[in-house]
Amino acid sequence: MDFKSEFKEKFKKAKSLLFFTGAGISAESGIATFRGKDGLWNKLKPEELASFSAFMKNPDMVWEWYQYRRNIVEGTLPNSGHYAIAELEKYYNVDVVTQNVDNLHERAGSTKIDELHGSIVRNFCVDCNTFYNHQDFEFDNKVPRCKKCNGLIRPDVVWFGENLRGHAFPNGERKAKECDICFVVGTSAIVYPAAYIPITAKQYGAYIVEINLEPTELSDQADYSIYGKSGEILPQILRLVNNN
Ligand code: OAD
Repeated sequence: MDFKSEFKEKFKKAKSLLFFTGAGISAESGIATFRGKDGLWNKLKPEELASFSAFMKNPDMVWEWYQYRRNIVEGTLPNSGHYAIAELEKYYNVDVVTQNVDNLHERAGSTKIDELHGSIVRNFCVDCNTFYNHQDFEFDNKVPRCKKCNGLIRPDVVWFGENLRGHAFPNGERKAKECDICFVVGTSAIVYPAAYIPITAKQYGAYIVEINLEPTELSDQADYSIYGKSGEILPQILRLVNNN
C-alpha cells in the first residue's frame, strides 16, 4: 500500500502513538461488531441484554448472554492488527484506549491499555464489589453468587445508561492530549464519551489517522482516512518503521 507522504513524514517524526480502537479491530478475529450489516444490535435489543435493569430483572438470561460471548472471545485469537499494535511498542511510546471488552489487545502483547467499556473476563459482585475472574470458579449459564455476601455477580462491562468506571477515561483523555498520532481503528465513533478521545487528540494537535472499512462520523475530522481491513493495514504501517 502506498501511504500518503504527509502521513509517512508524521510517522517518522512521531514519538507517541495512541490507538483508539473499536469492535472492527476484532472483526477479523471472528467477533461480531455492534453495528453494520451483521452487527449484534441489528438482531438484539441492547436494553434487554446490556443494562443494569435487564440484569436485575432476569440475571440468568443476561449472564447466559455474556457467558456465550465470553466463550466466543476465549475461542478466538488476536489478529495481525492487534499484533502490529503490540509490536510497535518496540519503536514508539504506544498507548491503546479501547472500547472493546474482549481482552485481545492484552493477549497480543500490548502493555498499556485502557478499557473504556470494561472487560468481559472480569466480574464483580453488585452488592460488595468483590472482583472475580473466570479462574475463581466454574461459570455456567446460571448467574453465580458472591462467595462473601451472596450478592449477584455481574460482568465488569459498561452497560447502557451507566457511567464509565475507574480511571480509563481520564487516562485516555490524558493520552489523547499527549500523543503525536491518534489512530482511530474499527470504530463507528458514535458512542460517547468514548468518542471524545480522538476529538480531544485533534484539539491538542495530534495527527488523526482513521482506519475503517468505510467513512464514519469521525472522517471529517481525520487528517487521513485509510479504508480497508485493519488486520491488513496495521501490519503495513508496522512495515513502514523498517522503511523509514
Ligand atoms: P461498531 O459496531 O459501532 O463499529 C464497528 C466499526 O468497525 C464500523 O465502523 C465498521 O465499518 C468497522 N469495521 C468492521 N470490520 C472492520 C475491519 N476488519 N477493519 C476495520 N474496520 C472495520 O463498534 P464500536 O464503534 O466499537 O458499547 O461500538 C462502540 C460501542 O457501542 C461498543 O463499545 C459497545 C457498543 O454498544 C458498550 O457496550 C458500552
